[in-house]
Amino acid sequence: MCGIVGAIAGRDVVPVLIEGLKRLEYRGYDSAGIAVVADTGVRRVRRTGRVSEMESAAAAEGFSATLGIGHTRWATHGGVTEDNAHPHISHGELALVHNGIIENHEAQRERLRGLGYAFESQTDTEVIAHLIHHYRAQGADLVGALQQAVRELHGAYAIAVIDKRDPGTMVAARMGCPLLVGLGDGENFVASDVSAIVSSTRRVIFLEEGDTAELTRDAVRIFDADGAPVEREVHVSDVSLASLELGPYRHFMQKEIHEQPRAVADTIEALMDDNAFSAELFGKDAAGVLEGIEAVQILACGTSYYAGLTARYWIEALAGLPCAVDIASEYRYRQVVANPKQLVVTISQSGETLDTMEALKYAKSLGQSRTLSICNVPESAIPRASRLVHYTRAGAEIGVASTKAFTTQLVALFTLAATLAKLRGRLDARQEDELLECLRHLPGSIQHALNLEPQIVAWAELFAPKDHALFLGRGMHYPIALEGALKLKEISYIHAEAYPAGELKHGPLALVDDAMPVVVIAPNDSLLEKVKSNIQEVRARGGQMFVFADADSQFGESEQVNVIRTPRHAGILSPIVHAIPVQLLAYHAALARGTDVDKPRNLAKSVTVE
Ligand code: G6P
Repeated sequence: MCGIVGAIAGRDVVPVLIEGLKRLEYRGYDSAGIAVVADTGVRRVRRTGRVSEMESAAAAEGFSATLGIGHTRWATHGGVTEDNAHPHISHGELALVHNGIIENHEAQRERLRGLGYAFESQTDTEVIAHLIHHYRAQGADLVGALQQAVRELHGAYAIAVIDKRDPGTMVAARMGCPLLVGLGDGENFVASDVSAIVSSTRRVIFLEEGDTAELTRDAVRIFDADGAPVEREVHVSDVSLASLELGPYRHFMQKEIHEQPRAVADTIEALMDDNAFSAELFGKDAAGVLEGIEAVQILACGTSYYAGLTARYWIEALAGLPCAVDIASEYRYRQVVANPKQLVVTISQSGETLDTMEALKYAKSLGQSRTLSICNVPESAIPRASRLVHYTRAGAEIGVASTKAFTTQLVALFTLAATLAKLRGRLDARQEDELLECLRHLPGSIQHALNLEPQIVAWAELFAPKDHALFLGRGMHYPIALEGALKLKEISYIHAEAYPAGELKHGPLALVDDAMPVVVIAPNDSLLEKVKSNIQEVRARGGQMFVFADADSQFGESEQVNVIRTPRHAGILSPIVHAIPVQLLAYHAALARGTDVDKPRNLAKSVTVE
């Protein structure tokens, strides 16, 4: 969702801000703006729509400065208008950008109106600008005014502020939303995401909850929630520029689908080096946390939730542990029955999905301290709030529709299931070797599945004119059917639903006619014969079937039954391999329909609001 970038330097920072905002576009936004402190005072340009439109306006107005802030906004409080876009300005002097939500903005707005402040937007953000201005007017310096103001805010924020009366300083604050400081040579930066500043520096400090920061060209001072100066660790980010650029691909989603053999290989690298499942893969003191657990509770949203649903089959079958999987936004408001001996696993690509974070906090508040985060973004909020962490190594995922993050999450969850099985004495050396061997073959099997692309393109052309589609799967391939339907609807806008194939005759069969394509995930596992019966039920109603099977599935093709086969059955890892063709189907159906694949309408990559 919203993104922040700010820079203070000896050079013109406008190109830095524009490039930073372009790199944040993937998060999802509907307006963009920058403000700079120039010789003439604070100057601002904002536009609804794309960053490139705002860039042209800034160029036309000859923007140039050594201090500035920028923002991409995803509307929450107030519609998508230029007046509501950030930065917000108080009294023509102070400009501010904000991610998050200020819950007590109405009360603050009333108070500030009483103090003579006039409001130009419907946003919760504008109160912060006026509040800081108010404390400056009372004599505080910029960082002091920021510290006084944030003490009065309830809610979540990442903030960056500049002021024309202080042209050598930028200040920032963080609570509940990520914000980092980038350290350059004679220049410093703030950003909500390292990708925004990676062309300028890789040395970053992740602000902690309640921190404020004061940046000049040559120095950075950080203060904790009590206002006391603190030192924070400097990290060197390994985000590569290549992962943020399209290269020869048409879309990031296409690039990321094709990166999966490498992403999976990177994610299992440590495991392959050790040639054994071990608790250490989840952190130094993981053995103590994982030993003696009685159950697993998985919490996640969106595609990450479907990774969790798949993992349940592995955790139950291999580790013999009961496993519940909940949508984070449901769990956090339910009166759940807590179990302190339960492992609470959050799954999040971004590590900043608000509902997942809040569900984790809720789980911990109930005395469940054994927490593990499976995440793709180092140092993000959810892993930082978890006792154990396992980072997937998918690399930056830019396409809104998650692909390589999903398959690497599945690999991490499979590793967890096998590790728990071993800790519980349910995996002997031979079985361990077999599972490791399966994983070793996985990147190759994924590559084989990618090679099916030309056949899938032909199917996608048949799908593109349709309004609806049904996805069926059984057992551990049912979550893959769910993921296939989600991918199709989010990027091609074709309405799609997924059902466990056994549920077909309890309702969805009524929808089947020759206008309804039915996608079936049907690998050669113990449920194949059941799936074949379900296929007959569709066939008898004139339905058109598109079956993803494997070489051993023995499907006869006919006018009504189209089959694409992966070269061999991937055993217990088959759901991971079958994720690939459903991703490709959605991608090519969207291409054929001409949608904005990487930025589907109304959706955001990082969902940092409820
Ligand atoms: C958004 C994204 C999805 C993602 C979901 C959960 O809806 O568009 O691709 O699966 O959030 O995000 P997370 O970062 O927590 O995995």
